[in-house]
Amino acid sequence: MSTWTIRLAERRDIPDLLSIEVAQFPEPWTRTMLIDEISNLATRRYTVAVEDEKIVGYLGVMYVIDELHVNTIGILPGHEGQGIATSLMNEAWGVAKGRGVQRATLEVAVSNTRAQELYFRFGFSPVGVRKNYYERTNEDALILWADLA
Ligand SMILES: CC(C)(COP(=O)(O)OP(=O)(O)OC[C@H]1O[C@@H](n2cnc3c(N)ncnc32)[C@H](O)[C@@H]1OP(=O)(O)O)[C@@H](O)C(=O)NCCC(=O)NCCS
Repeated sequence: MSTWTIRLAERRDIPDLLSIEVAQFPEPWTRTMLIDEISNLATRRYTVAVEDEKIVGYLGVMYVIDELHVNTIGILPGHEGQGIATSLMNEAWGVAKGRGVQRATLEVAVSNTRAQELYFRFGFSPVGVRKNYYERTNEDALILWADLA
């Protein structure tokens, strides 16, 4: 049973989002990048999952005409495998469909099979590779696309 709620990200959430970034990503976003992203309400939509007043996960998407780009998704260590990422994506998909979004895309590290399994469940499939997309780890990214229509 879900014990978290989903709401839009706010500026006061930035320290918690930074902690998740640092814990989960080899190339974590900076405070400035996060502020820019969550403040850009015209093209971005950032949501957080909150459990016991603590942020346990977040998702950031960008709208490009009738496409949705998944910019980031991260779960607080110790809270994976409970369906938090799935519910963040379900919520975002519902909103995107309401806005007439037709397709979704994202990049994911070739070695990140955990995230890939999540994306495949949402209908994403690989269409190509971006070589050395992740500079710090020298790793390639899979380019995934999904039809929302
Ligand atoms: C990848 C990531 C976002 C997945 O988040 P998550 O919240 O663990 O994902 P979910 O729980 O929604 O789904 C993952 C698993 O939990 C299972 N699950 C879903 N609901 C569940 C529940 N209520 N109870 C137990 N398990 C559940 C799912 O079946 C799924 O299982 P499987 O993938 O082992 O087959 C998370 O591991 C993460 O933050 N990774 C580091 C950052 C990262 O790689 N981000 C993606 C960059 S492209």
